[in-house]
Amino acid sequence: MNIIITGSSRGIGNAISERCIKLGGRIYGVTTKTDVRKSNCIDYILTDPYNIDVLINNAGIIKVGNVSELTSYDWKKQFNVNVHGTFNCCKTYIKHCIERKIKGKIINIASTAGLGARPGRAAYAATKAAIINFSLSLAEELKDYGIKVYCVCPSAVDTDMRHYINPDDDFINMLKPADVADFVYNLIINGEKLDGQILTIK
Ligand SMILES: NC(=O)c1ccc[n+]([C@@H]2O[C@H](COP(=O)([O-])OP(=O)(O)OC[C@H]3O[C@@H](n4cnc5c(N)ncnc54)[C@H](OP(=O)(O)O)[C@@H]3O)[C@@H](O)[C@H]2O)c1
Repeated sequence: MNIIITGSSRGIGNAISERCIKLGGRIYGVTTKTDVRKSNCIDYILTDPYNIDVLINNAGIIKVGNVSELTSYDWKKQFNVNVHGTFNCCKTYIKHCIERKIKGKIINIASTAGLGARPGRAAYAATKAAIINFSLSLAEELKDYGIKVYCVCPSAVDTDMRHYINPDDDFINMLKPADVADFVYNLIINGEKLDGQILTIK
């Protein structure tokens, strides 16, 4: 099983990469150095002769602040990484799947923040809502090609991002990156009957 995962350097992405090594194939990590904001960010991977079975769009950023404090730069940067990054990788991967007749899987990591109000994090929540809706449409578009699209929405997870959002949280009882990694791993190996669904983890 060959997998591309964005944001693999730490947190949830790193845990998913480590878990997926058990699947025995190649794991291609995409980091800030490659930068998902670039439309050609995964092109170099797809020049390899190997078929890519799964794309996991996990890279994400957040800037905390009320809308009155948020700059247009902050707003755009979150959309560029979280939404455009997801679009960029999906677009390249879909072409790869269609050209090679691969029944691939796309797993987009959104958030429960995309499903409800998040005062103080409106821009981030809007990016996650965009990823959720994008995933629903993409699943429909790709049905005839046998390409599955899943959208995973974790609630708070004990990572650097969560420590930045709320350092006073109860981290002991919080989801760990390994919990999300287990969920994604099971989706990859058992998710055949699911498609186009919003899967929340709490
Ligand atoms: N933690 C939570 O509570 C939580 C809950 C729900 C959903 N999520 C989502 O889960 C995903 C992972 O979050 P996390 O908590 O693991 O965050 P994290 O610890 O802050 O890690 C974010 C990852 O994204 C990478 N990244 C940032 N900008 C990038 C870019 N332009 N190109 C490529 N990679 C980039 C980072 O790379 P560097 O190491 O180089 O910065 C890092 O590997 C995000 O999409 C986040 O929104 C998180």
